[in-house]
Amino acid sequence: MNIPVKNNVFWLGKIDWDLRKFHGNELSTHRGSTYNSYLIKEDKIALIDTVWGPFAKEYVKNLSTEIDLKKIDYVIANHGESDHSGALPELMRHIPHTPIYCTANGVKSLKGQYHEDWDFKVVKTGDRLSLGKKELIFIEAPMLHWPDTMFSYLTEDNILFSNDAFGQHLASEFMFNDLVDQSELTFEAMKYYANILVPFSPLVDKKIKEILALKLPMDMICPSHGVMWRKIPQQIVESYLHWSNKYKENQITIVYDTMWSGTRIMAEHIAKGITTADKTVTVKLFNIGHSDKNDVITEIFKSKAVLIGSPTINKGILTAVASLLEELRGLSFKEKKAAAFGCYGWSGESVPLINEHLKAAGFTVVDEGFKTFWNPDDASRKACIEYGQKLAKLL
Ligand code: FEO
Repeated sequence: MNIPVKNNVFWLGKIDWDLRKFHGNELSTHRGSTYNSYLIKEDKIALIDTVWGPFAKEYVKNLSTEIDLKKIDYVIANHGESDHSGALPELMRHIPHTPIYCTANGVKSLKGQYHEDWDFKVVKTGDRLSLGKKELIFIEAPMLHWPDTMFSYLTEDNILFSNDAFGQHLASEFMFNDLVDQSELTFEAMKYYANILVPFSPLVDKKIKEILALKLPMDMICPSHGVMWRKIPQQIVESYLHWSNKYKENQITIVYDTMWSGTRIMAEHIAKGITTADKTVTVKLFNIGHSDKNDVITEIFKSKAVLIGSPTINKGILTAVASLLEELRGLSFKEKKAAAFGCYGWSGESVPLINEHLKAAGFTVVDEGFKTFWNPDDASRKACIEYGQKLAKLL
């Protein structure tokens, strides 16, 4: 099976409808994913990226029905992570002497994972590989999202093979951006950015501007996950420029966990206070104890501020909240405000602890936070509403 992409370019990847977790258990993929591999059949034949290891045999078998493997002149490894390189050992078993084009860090990554001394050809930005009438131009893209990442650009067809950048975890039989549900596509593209690329936003911005300055015609962007951008491919480039520049909407996200509903009641009354004071702001509440962490992170990415709540337990905070805060520390969102809240019955350390985590994650903590003693009574509920009203002005 292949999907014609343009002229002599064909998609030969794997649509993984089953995938629900990615990067081990770190990232939820409610809509599955795809591993995109591209075969370019010009005078010379190039293969860009492969698929994840569990699908290696299936992939190589399918590839061999499309082309005699020995006719592949070049393998291009835009990125060494195993979801794209996992089928290389199986493929290279058939064509051990075919050169693999990748960055210097790509060699380290591939050797480190597969311990094979394949014929690596190291490329840098601006290097060209002739396929006959057309060429591949390589563009290093370190930290988008690994140090080894690069893009490949096919002249004449004007296709940018961008690997993870501009990708989405979205399985679809249609495989083109104009054929899929647009709200699903937008959400999955944003979720991908919010959960994987956010820490590298300054580099994303710089790299996109560098590519735009090259003034290469861009008819299509073909990432390594999800659908290919053929209708107005510039739309995802513009979205990335927005997202990489301290993106926020007029939204406040309230995330909490609760033991006996005290902190939940606080969250709901603080939300009420915010919405009574500001009729324009979107407020969303999530109990992180049973919400999808990556969807919540996507909502935080969209927000101008986040409120984090936990009761005190064992002089600390609930583990679901702690886990989220650790992830937020790594993602390092920029220019977002934050505040903490929580109820307590004895020692009451949760709020100052959350404040410390929020500061370490780069949030601007607007005040000392808000505590209530035991379950909120009528007076405490009123105080929560008033706290929300105060926050509406601060956030
Ligand atoms: Fe960084 Fe899709 O792998």
